[in-house]
Amino acid sequence: MCKDLYHKDKFNLHPFYHTIELLKETSSTNDYLKQKADCTQEGYVVISEAQTKGKGRNGRVFHSPKHTGIYMSFLIKPSFTIYDTSKISACVSVAVYEAIKKLYHIDSKIKWINDLYIEDKKIAGILCESTLKINSSYLEYMIIGIGINVHTYTMPNELVSIAGSIEDFTNIKHLRSTLITEILNRFYFYYSNFNDSSFMNVYRMNSYVIGKQIKVIENNSSYNAFVETIDDSGFLHILLEDNTKKILTSAEISIRIA
Ligand code: BTN
Repeated sequence: MCKDLYHKDKFNLHPFYHTIELLKETSSTNDYLKQKADCTQEGYVVISEAQTKGKGRNGRVFHSPKHTGIYMSFLIKPSFTIYDTSKISACVSVAVYEAIKKLYHIDSKIKWINDLYIEDKKIAGILCESTLKINSSYLEYMIIGIGINVHTYTMPNELVSIAGSIEDFTNIKHLRSTLITEILNRFYFYYSNFNDSSFMNVYRMNSYVIGKQIKVIENNSSYNAFVETIDDSGFLHILLEDNTKKILTSAEISIRIA
């Protein structure tokens, strides 16, 4: 395990995070945590030095080499419904955005629903996976998986033009454990004040998509639209080419900047 990740004493976390499990390698920290989710309290954190089958949204792969990135998942069990999941995603994005800004003095942009970009290159992605209580719209639990390209490394050819690492743009090196601590503590702050939607203003102010033309990819078809705003529930308000308005709520939808 690389030292800048495995510094248990460097994690200065809120007691909400009761267990931090550090792994050398796993297929996916989300899948690893899923096996424990039923019988553990919220606040369980799993961090892996590398992932062999890192998952992105919509079935994509999240490249997860050792020594360079953060691959972590943590568990929450809120009394929220399925309709709150976009807002939770936004909350996580803001925690990551603010932690990067504080430590690296750089503004990233948040692409709905929760990818982070610096200068048009993706530096972080978030995959929230939830299960519902039986016959209910209430969440049983949610696993929040965060993947961040932190240190500079030689990316595979297919990623070079679309992805980057924080260090590429800042030349600043921090312990990955410092960034993890900052993200988790910020997330907990917003999560424990969830009804106060103030983080949604940060989300909107740093949006990569508001005011832009986008291509929406939905069920094997695509269409162009203009993004008007993102509301406090994390839903995307778009204007179609025929001037009708539509609200997108689903994390299953992909968008591209046109
Ligand atoms: C995306 O880019 O679409 C989301 C990427 C999420 C990657 C993180 S890394 C930790 C956790 N485990 C996974 O398999 N995926 C998430």
